[in-house]
Order: sequence, then C-alpha cells, then structure tokens
Amino acid sequence: MSFLSATLSRVKPSPTIAVTAKAAELRAAGRDVIGLGAGEPDFDTPQNIKEAAVAAIAAGKTKYTAVDGIPELKAAICAKLRRDNGLDYTPAQVSVGTGGKQILYNALMATLNPGDEVVIPAPYWVSYPDMVLLAGGTPVIAAASLENDFKLTADQLEAAITPKTKWLIFNSPSNPTGAGYNRDELKALTDVLLRHPHVWVMTDDMYEHLAYGDFKFCTPAEVEPALYARTLTCNGVSKAYAMTGWRIGYAAGPVELIAAMRKIQSQSTSNPCSVSQWAAVEALNGPQDFLPANNEVFRRRRDLVVKMLSQIEGITCPVPDGAFYVYPSIAGLIGKTSPGGRLIDSDEAFATALLEEADVAVVFGAAFGLSPNFRVSYATSDAALETACRRIRDFCASLS
Ligand SMILES: Cc1ncc(COP(=O)(O)O)c(C=O)c1O
Repeated sequence: MSFLSATLSRVKPSPTIAVTAKAAELRAAGRDVIGLGAGEPDFDTPQNIKEAAVAAIAAGKTKYTAVDGIPELKAAICAKLRRDNGLDYTPAQVSVGTGGKQILYNALMATLNPGDEVVIPAPYWVSYPDMVLLAGGTPVIAAASLENDFKLTADQLEAAITPKTKWLIFNSPSNPTGAGYNRDELKALTDVLLRHPHVWVMTDDMYEHLAYGDFKFCTPAEVEPALYARTLTCNGVSKAYAMTGWRIGYAAGPVELIAAMRKIQSQSTSNPCSVSQWAAVEALNGPQDFLPANNEVFRRRRDLVVKMLSQIEGITCPVPDGAFYVYPSIAGLIGKTSPGGRLIDSDEAFATALLEEADVAVVFGAAFGLSPNFRVSYATSDAALETACRRIRDFCASLS
C-alpha cells in the first residue's frame, strides 16, 4: 500500500502551472520561448497599495489577526459589495482567505460529503474539479459549446442537476474562455436554480473588473435576490489589482457557512498575511482609476490576438467579454502532422508541438474540459503577443 493518501491519487497537479514550469525550463536552456500560459496580469501592483503595506509593516501590524480577516478589511469588502454589486452583507457574513483559491477550497471542504455532486460548467478553471475531489465530492461536468460562446444554457444546467447536487460553481468572466454572462443569460440559469432549492451557487467573480466593450458584469445574488440565502459570492484582489502574490481572496454568504469556513481555516492556515490584508484594504477603499486604464490595455491586446489568430486557417477564435484569455478552437487542424513529425490528434499534441517546434507556450484545452482548443493568456506585452501569434500562424501553416 502506498504511503500517500488515496485522495491524492484522485487529483492531478495544475496543468497551467506545469506549462509555465516547462516554458521556464526551456528558457533556462537558452530557448527563446514566449509564455502565454500565465494567469496573472503583467502590471505591477499600484503604488498606493504597496505603500499601505509598507505603512502596515512600519506600524507593527505584523502579528496574527482574526482567523478570517481584520475588521477593517471586512468593512471594506462589505462596502465594495454594496458599491459594485448592490449586495448587502454584514462583516459576520464575510470570510477572508489566502487567495481566492483557499476561499473556494474552504467552502467545498465545509460543505461536501461523499456522494455530493458539484456542477461545473466546462470549459472550467482547472482547479474546480480537483478541489471538489479533494473535498470528497463528485464533480459533474456540464459542457458548454463554442457555438454558444462557451456559455451554459438553462437546459444544459437543468440536465446536470440531480437530487445529489449541492453546488453549481459559476465563473463569469471565465477562465479559460473570457466568456461573460449578461444579465438575461445569467437570469436563465438562476431561474433553473429557483426550481431546485437544494442547489447552492458558488460564484467565482475573480474577473469582475476585467470586462471590455459593452459587457456589463453581473453576479447571481444581484440578478436573482431570491438566491441570496444560498449563494456564496467569491472574489479577490489578485487579478484586478495585480496582486497575485499577496494572496488575498474573500467570500460573502450565509453566516453559518462563513463560520464553518472559518473553522477549517483556523485549523489549517489561520489568518491570511496581515500585511497583505492592509494592502487589500487600500485596494478596495482607495482610488479605482487604474482599472479602466489597465482594461484599455487588455482590450487592445485582446483585439490584437483575436484578429491575428482569426486569420489563421484551421483556427476559430471567438471574441471574449473579459478576463485576459482567449480560447480558440483548433478543430480545423486535427489530423495534420507537424514538420517535426508529431501527429496533431488532440489539443495536447498541438500545444506540445507548438512549444517544442515553435517556442510558444499555451495551455491545451483538455485541461479545461473542452477540446480541441487552447488557452492564450494575453497578459503580456503587445510585442510578445504579436511575435507569438506570428509563430502560431507559421506553425499552423507548416502543418501538412
Ligand atoms: C477563475 C479563478 N478563480 C480563482 C483563482 C484564484 O485566485 P487567487 O490567486 O486569488 O487564489 C483564479 C486564478 O487563476 C482563477 O482564474
């Protein structure tokens, strides 16, 4: 019998982290690899946020804090949810954790029993199914289609729900597709949930502020107030405030669930970093004017990537509403062979050949539950994006 736990055999390491590591390895070996795998903004954390952290250190705010967040941060989160989402929460309904990842994981650990099902629309963020498995639940994948812009329909959600369903995990704008649900599309899903009172919704609003053009972000409890009592609204400062390394995420929901999440955190990591919490207070309460400025850069890059990839024969590239990803289909390239002799029989084979033969690192679609596609993160410079798209074009043209 293995010394390692049986739970471990059910989960896989994060493929996105694996791609980033592989690209770094090739770069260290002297190859000019362009990485389009990273899930973080290339912008620096805004100066006022850094200064708030420095001030916190100088003031000695370097000790343990309340397990699930300092009162000042909880107050800032309540104010943010009211301001941006029209949602009323009290501090007792708020939990702060070490990144959005810990928040989602705490919630699953706090609620899942063996046999409980969690509906996860695909394409999904890679961690959702594995987190559900780690927490002892069963992921139920509900596949959306490229034809519907990677958004789940009401019928598809209805078909995935069973008496064992505990949660729907909802993510808009989405990692990996950038797809965003408008109010009507989200209402169609919340209407389904109204018919199934045993199903709760865990909404991952991490990319809320990264929305472009006409797209207007909305969140389930705002669109359908009747779901408020069974919604966990999750968010964080990682993406919008370029604070991935600071590790602050948060959630708001029913007091009993928040207390259960606190219990788990109290026996695992205790409080998130005290200094980061003070930085997050400044992020949420301070000036927000860099958000539209950053978004303008992201929108320009999105348009650049979509334009260049759409011109490639064999690739279909929908225009995303938000986040910093595009999720093109390579259906038109399946069955071809690369100059290096690799048969492109899957998106994984495509991504491997692209990295090995054209020095561009992308993440293959199977990792996100919908193939044959690949994910491009455009959170990198315009020059790198242009070069990478030209390499992808030349690589695709070289397939026979
Ligand atoms: C959809 C989604 N949710 C949550 C997270 C986790 O964010 P954090 O870095 O705050 O843990 C990510 C990070 O990639 C993400 O893409």
